[in-house]
Amino acid sequence: MEQVTTQIPTPSEYLWWQQGVIYQIYPRSYQDSNGDGIGDLKGIISRLDYLQWLGIDCVWLSPVFLSPMADFGYDISDYCAIHPLFGSMDDFDELLQQVHDRGMKLLLDLVPNHTSDQHPWFLESKSSRDSPKRNWYLWQDAREDGSVPNNWLSVFGGRAWEWDENTGQYYYHAFLKEQPDLNWRNPEVQKAMLDVMRFWLDKGVDGFRVDVMWHMIKDLALRDNPPSPESKFEEKDLIYDHYIPVYSTDQPEVHEIVSMMRKLTDEYENRVLVGEIYLPIHKLVTYYGTDNKGAHLPFNFQLLNLPWDAAQIATAIDEYEGALPAGGWPNWVLGNHDKPRISSRVGRSQAKIAALMLLTLRGTPTIYYGDEIGMRDVPIPINEIVDPQGLNMPELNVSRDPARTPMQWSGEINAGFSMHKPWLRLPYNSARVNVVTQKANPYSILSFYRKLLTLRKENPALNVGKYTPVYSDQQLISYIREDENSRFLIILNLTHRPAYFKPRRESYRGLVLLGTEIERTGMQVGDIITLSGDEGLLIRLAD
Ligand code: NOJ
Repeated sequence: MEQVTTQIPTPSEYLWWQQGVIYQIYPRSYQDSNGDGIGDLKGIISRLDYLQWLGIDCVWLSPVFLSPMADFGYDISDYCAIHPLFGSMDDFDELLQQVHDRGMKLLLDLVPNHTSDQHPWFLESKSSRDSPKRNWYLWQDAREDGSVPNNWLSVFGGRAWEWDENTGQYYYHAFLKEQPDLNWRNPEVQKAMLDVMRFWLDKGVDGFRVDVMWHMIKDLALRDNPPSPESKFEEKDLIYDHYIPVYSTDQPEVHEIVSMMRKLTDEYENRVLVGEIYLPIHKLVTYYGTDNKGAHLPFNFQLLNLPWDAAQIATAIDEYEGALPAGGWPNWVLGNHDKPRISSRVGRSQAKIAALMLLTLRGTPTIYYGDEIGMRDVPIPINEIVDPQGLNMPELNVSRDPARTPMQWSGEINAGFSMHKPWLRLPYNSARVNVVTQKANPYSILSFYRKLLTLRKENPALNVGKYTPVYSDQQLISYIREDENSRFLIILNLTHRPAYFKPRRESYRGLVLLGTEIERTGMQVGDIITLSGDEGLLIRLAD
C-alpha cells in the first residue's frame, strides 16, 4: 500500500483565523460613551488600542442590531440596522474601519434561527393564515384535544409553542415566545438571510458567529422528543433538560443550510464562519461539513462544560484531536455570555492555568471580555435580575447576568465603564480588580495574558504547531507544541497540591519561558519537574 504522508503547511500558509485569537465583546457591557449606563459602539472604538496592546487579532461582537431587547439583542427586528442604544450605522462603519486600521478583524453575530416577534416578517406572517409570509415561520394546528402540537420545550422554560388567538394556530419558539423560529426549509427564508449576510460581507466584516446553528432545522414530522434518563425534573416542570432534543435540533438537513452559508462566505476573500453548537464531540465535528465545506470553526465548548479534572480534560483534548476531520481546524472556548465565568467556575487560583491551556492548545482560542483581568461572576440581587432565562426559571439560579457585568477598566466612578449607573451592577472590588491596576502589576493575570499572547505571536509553534500529549495523571496535563524551529512543553497542574511531572520514557530539559508564578520564568528545568499547587509552566525545550 502506498505510504500516506501529511504535508504540514508552513506558517505563512495558515489563515488569519487559524493563527489569531478571537475576543468576544458583549457590547452592552464593554464601554459606555454617552452616559446612559449601556455600552455602545463609540465606547468600543475608544478601547481598540487596549485590545491591540493586549494582542487580540479579532473581535466578535454580540448582536448590535435593532431589537426590542427581550433577549438583549438575540431577538432582532431589523438585521441590517444598528440599535440606537449602540449608535448609528456611521458608528459601525467607523468601528470596522478602526478595527481594520489596527490590523484586526471584526466578526458579527448572525442570529438566523429566530427573529423578534416584532420583526416585519413575523408581523406579516401572523397577520393571517393566507399571508405570503405565513410559511416563513413554523405554524401548526392544535392537536384534536386543543393541546400543543408536540412535547417540545423552550430552552428558557415552558412550552415551545405559543397560541395565536387571531389565526387559531400555534407557532414554535425554541427560546422566548418573543423569538419565533424561522422556517429554514422555505427557500424564501434562506434567500432573505443570505441577503443579510451579503449586506454585512459587502461592508467588509470578516465573518460571522452563527447563533444556535444546530437548532436551525427541526424534524419535518414534528415527532415528540424522548425523555432523558438523566433528567432531574418531572414532565410537569416543563424544563428543557427533561427531554433529549433529538427531533427539535441537529437534524441531518441542517448541513445543507450551513453549506449554503459557507458557500456565500467563500465568495468573499478571507472570511470566516463560526458556529455556536452545543453537541457531543462526535456530532459537533459533523458541522465541519463534507470536505470541510461547513463551518470553519464549530465552537468547541468542552472547557466550558467539563469538570475541572485533569484526567477528564486530558481525555477530552485527545478525543477532540482524534475526532477532527482531516483539514478541520480546532478551536477552544473558555467563556461566553451564556455561561459562568471561568474564574468563578474553577476559582481564582486556577484562572491562569485555564488561560495557559486556552492559549497553548492547538487551535483558535476565543477569550471572553474581562476574563483577561480575572473578572468573576457578580452576584446580582434577585430584584435586579434582567436576564429572561433567570427570570423564567427563578428556582434554578440560571440567570446569565452575573457573567455579563460591565468591564472593569479603572478605579474611577463605575470602574470607568460609564458616568451613569450601569445596567448591571459592578462587584465591590472593582476599584482593585481592573485594567489600570493590573497593567501596572507584573504579577497580575492581565500581564500574564499579555505575555502569553505575545509569545504565541512570536512562536508559530504555539499557535499552529503540532500537538502531542506527553503525560497526564489525576493532577497534571502536559503536551508538546512544536514546529521545525522550536519545541515547547506545557505542564498544567489543575489541583491546589504540589505535583510531579514524571513522564515514563524521555526526560525533558529546557528553560521556563513563562510560569504562572513569575519567579519561575528563566529557570532551567529537567528530569523530574516539580510543580506547586495551581502552577503551570511553558518551557522551551533544549532539543
Ligand atoms: C444563543 C445565545 O448565545 C444566547 O445568548 C441567546 O439567548 C440564545 N442563543 C437565543 O438567541
